[in-house]
Amino acid sequence: MPRLRGPAIELPPPNQRWALLNEAIYGDPLIGGHHRAPQDSAYPWSWEKAFGRQAPLMLEVGFNRGRFITELAHRNPEKNVVGIEIRRRFGIRLAQQCGLNDEPKNLRVIWGDAKILLPKLFEAGSLSDMFVTFPDPWWKKRHAKRRLVDTNFAAEIAEKLQKGGFIWVKSDVEMIAEEIKEALVARPELGDLVSFEQDDLPLTHRERSCIKNGLPIHRFRLTRNDQPFSGYFEEPEEAEDTENTSEAGFEIEQNAE
Ligand SMILES: C[S@@+](CC[C@H](N)C(=O)[O-])C[C@H]1O[C@@H](n2cnc3c(N)ncnc32)[C@H](O)[C@@H]1O
Repeated sequence: MPRLRGPAIELPPPNQRWALLNEAIYGDPLIGGHHRAPQDSAYPWSWEKAFGRQAPLMLEVGFNRGRFITELAHRNPEKNVVGIEIRRRFGIRLAQQCGLNDEPKNLRVIWGDAKILLPKLFEAGSLSDMFVTFPDPWWKKRHAKRRLVDTNFAAEIAEKLQKGGFIWVKSDVEMIAEEIKEALVARPELGDLVSFEQDDLPLTHRERSCIKNGLPIHRFRLTRNDQPFSGYFEEPEEAEDTENTSEAGFEIEQNAE
């Protein structure tokens, strides 16, 4: 069953579990995942308490094997870096690595659903940077609603970024990159859309494989401007699925769990 190379995935002992926040959020390190909201006792949630210090906060959603976020934390020791990944094995594996290496001390991990957790754990204007890297394409029309960055999530991003903060996006699927761009550009609080270069950020696992295979990668960034948050848009009507397309998710997803 497990197809990841490397050491077995098991819950680190309590003294090596400092990077994993599931216990504080859900009451148990083995509880998390899809659609689950924090338990009442998690509130009032404090990132300062979770990291043991106050510092600007960065968030990656969907860190998978965690290469990007680990390197990001190493490159930004003055920032608190949090990753949310919906799959348990990846969340626990990254927490296990942090525990074994006893670093990076500025990294915290949640295996949970970012769509649920972004509104519940992050205050308006609390993020200096947010990273969406190679989100699942969910090719089938009837699954399109599962895509990470829809209009509501774009509103959440706009609300949670601090003024002057950045939303960074990478994808090798042009249609997904365009869809995300459209959702973000529609937000009056986000602007200054620019492309960025490969070397501007650490590489993700999927990015390495795309580079190796010569696939084009879309990289762009928007900046939170000074406009006050203007609220949420209405969800569009759900489209009927009349297509018979194959799901064809990313290989690392199919192999994941
Ligand atoms: C295609 S992978 C890309 C992984 C990594 N960012 C990379 O570039 O190699 C997308 C990741 O997002 C995670 N994911 C999907 N939906 C999520 C959600 N709602 N909350 C948190 N993680 C999610 C998946 O489990 C998967 O690990």
